[in-house]
Amino acid sequence: MRCRAGPSRGPGFRSRKPRSPLLPERPRVVIIGGGGHAKVVIEALRAAGFPPPLGILDPRPPAPMVLGVPVLGGNERLERLRAEGAADAVVALGDNRLRQAMGGRLAELGFRLPPVLHPAAQLSPTARVLEGAVVMARACLGPDAEIGLLAIVNTAAVVEHDNRLGPAAHVAPGCALAGGVMVGERALVGVGSSVRPGMVIGADAVVGAGSAVVRDVPPGARVGGVPARPLGEGR
Ligand SMILES: CC(C)(COP(=O)(O)OP(=O)(O)OC[C@H]1O[C@@H](n2cnc3c(N)ncnc32)[C@H](O)[C@@H]1OP(=O)(O)O)[C@@H](O)C(=O)NCCC(=O)NCCS
Repeated sequence: MRCRAGPSRGPGFRSRKPRSPLLPERPRVVIIGGGGHAKVVIEALRAAGFPPPLGILDPRPPAPMVLGVPVLGGNERLERLRAEGAADAVVALGDNRLRQAMGGRLAELGFRLPPVLHPAAQLSPTARVLEGAVVMARACLGPDAEIGLLAIVNTAAVVEHDNRLGPAAHVAPGCALAGGVMVGERALVGVGSSVRPGMVIGADAVVGAGSAVVRDVPPGARVGGVPARPLGEGR
């Protein structure tokens, strides 16, 4: 599923509010995960006009309710919920590998994974957001940016023109990715990092908080600092 332009908020950008009464109702979703990331997702769902979620599935919930949303049980409830008619889910797990695995399981069970776009995010009309991805408040997506399946663009992150975020990648709060950056599958760009134009961050790589990426990052590498260098090698 690709998410495209809604009503315009300013020159060249679009907002998803207010929704037209002619548009179909947004679904009641099942939320997978009840941790900190789920709180941000719940608030984004509410702001975006989704109706109250059906509930949260989490095998180790921090509390019986998360921001007023009830925890229904663990993931063993999924099949039953699907059989009872639940058809839409949001994977609110911050761990990239877990989020991707759970997205696969949900797809096998026939769940849809609607993208969640906070109305205070700014999206170029040519940006694309794929299924299961979330774009948080004050994030900014530039022209022709593509946000992959189950990826996260977190609060106030700037993902500039022609970026490609792979499946289950995560650009953390306050990052600034210049034009043409590629972020590989399940890679994490840590909070407050900056990335030079055209850099390639490989699959499963981790960019530490507050880094400046000025060289490509190989798949699976862990880098950090300004400029970012491999971690664990005498640093
Ligand atoms: C990079 C990171 C994953 C490393 O975590 P870790 O494996 O627990 O590593 P440690 O904290 O034990 O640190 C290992 C070494 O790397 C250094 N280091 C850790 N994070 C660093 C960073 N962001 N920049 C520079 N150096 C860093 C530490 O100082 C330490 O150096 P030393 O061995 O010389 O003492 C973590 O520090 C980080 O930055 N995570 C990003 C989290 C984030 O943004 N999440 C998004 C949430 S929404």
